Parts: sequence; structure tokens; C-alpha cells
Amino acid sequence: MNYKMNNQNEIPKLGYGVFKMENNDSSKNSILNALEAGYRHIDTAAIYGNEEQVGRAIKESGLKREEIFVTTKLWNEDMRQETEWDAINKSLELLQLDYVDLYLIHWPVKDKYINAYKKLEEMLEKGLSKNIGVSNFQINHLKELEEKTKIVPVVNQIELHPYLTQKELLNYCKEKNIIVEAWSPLGATKNDLLQNEVLKDIGKKYNKSVAQVMLRWDIENGVLPLPKSANKGRIEENFQIFDFSLSKEEIQLVDNLNKNERVGANPDTFTF
Ligand code: A2P
Repeated sequence: MNYKMNNQNEIPKLGYGVFKMENNDSSKNSILNALEAGYRHIDTAAIYGNEEQVGRAIKESGLKREEIFVTTKLWNEDMRQETEWDAINKSLELLQLDYVDLYLIHWPVKDKYINAYKKLEEMLEKGLSKNIGVSNFQINHLKELEEKTKIVPVVNQIELHPYLTQKELLNYCKEKNIIVEAWSPLGATKNDLLQNEVLKDIGKKYNKSVAQVMLRWDIENGVLPLPKSANKGRIEENFQIFDFSLSKEEIQLVDNLNKNERVGANPDTFTF
């Protein structure tokens, strides 16, 4: 149920994503549902505005701190303003935690992400985060990071789903021993992936839903999916992906669905 990262630390193979969840009780309850369903990995970010609810849910769950893997992310504006230390301290305060398990650079902000990452290296040293990594980095960003900083990021979190398989970047990360995490692993319902006939056929064979096939395909490819759902039934459904596997041919069939089609911003042209 865990991947081993390049620093030998472990990370649960599936995470619960909380993007777009509001800062209210209903979100806290969804997170509690996820913890109850078995998720032990929560992926938030300062910009999501819901770290407070993640913290409350963890407290209310009664689980021990070390049983839950918590990721949050440094927002772009904090890189531009060079307020990285304030940013992590604010996140920790909202999360009611002494440390996060993983702190990520949210987007490769031009001319800023190298210095920001150097600060993450210091945060790691100080124990504010147990691991550090990046998000939305392309190969050129990773190469620059390798040249100019010391610690290899443990993960790169990117948009990845069957219509955007990211083979080149995925292979590059594998070569460098960087785990790829998938955001919008279901296509965020902005495309027709959930109605895709190839995925439906594979699902029928295993009595699994299209969503479960997509998430299992991630696992087969060594990718760490971060599905989001506010619905208790679908939260549970998305966790039930460890009791079946896909054949080589089926993995290839899903790989072949690639259209290089994004549902979110492009890391080379984002404007926020
Ligand atoms: P809901 O919260 O109503 O379950 P992604 O993780 O790719 O960004 O996708 C998130 C979207 O997919 C949400 O709108 C969520 O809606 C929906 N979703 C999550 N899990 C499933 C599932 N198992 N089947 C269908 N839709 C799902």
C-alpha cells in the first residue's frame, strides 16, 4: 500500500485530494469519511483554503499523527513575495501540525522556483516537512533544479489521466527516481473519460467502475493518484483498487487513449 521514495521514506500509494473543497464542516466531514474508508494520505495546498478543515478532521479522527501522510503546497504568490517561511508556518498553524509529511512547490514560478526550493531544503533540515518535492514541473524545470539544488524532489505532482498520459515526463521521473503523483486522475469530469467505452469494457471484466480502472491503471504504472470526491460512496469506491490488477494488454489499451488533452493549466504557459 506504500511506495518507497528516493530518500527511503514511504508514502501511501493513493491519496485523497481536497482541491475545491470549501473551508466548512461539510469538507471536514468528507475528509473524516475518507479517513474512515482507509485513506491515510491527504493532499491539500495553501491556495485551496481548506487546510483548517484537514487539521480538524485529523484531530477528530483520533488517528495518531504518524499514521497520516499530509501534503501541502507553497503558493505562487509566496514565491513572488519571498514569504516562503511565513507560508509554511501559516499552513502548519491551520493544519494544527508541527510538521507536514510533504511540502511541494505548487507551480514552477519563473525566476522564483529555484530559490524557493532552496528554502524547502532548509525547511526539511529544520523538520518542518519530512519530505520535499515539486508540482507541475516539466522536464526542463526538473533539469534546472538538478543543476542548482542539492536534494532530489521525492515527487512531482502533475495532471495525469488516460487522455494525458505524460509518458515522456513519467519516464524521465522514473529515471530520476521521482514518484509521479496524478492530479485530476479522473479527468475532473471535465472530459468524457467516465463514459469511455474502452475503460467501461475493462471495468466490466473485473466488476469495477471506470473510475476504479483509471486509478488502478495509475498504480500499475507506478503513479500515485489523488482522486477527489465529496461523496461518501465514491470516496469508498475510489479506495477499492487494491483487490484487482490489469493485464499488460489492458494497461496498453488505456495508455493508447492518450490525446495530450489537459483539463487544467499548462505549466509552460500558466498565468497565475
Ligand atoms: P463527487 O465529489 O460528486 O464525487 P478528479 O479527482 O479527476 O479531479 O475528479 C473529481 C471529480 O470526479 C469530482 O467532481 C467528483 O465528484 C468526481 N468523482 C470522484 N470519484 C468519482 C467516481 N468514482 N465516479 C464518478 N465520479 C467521481
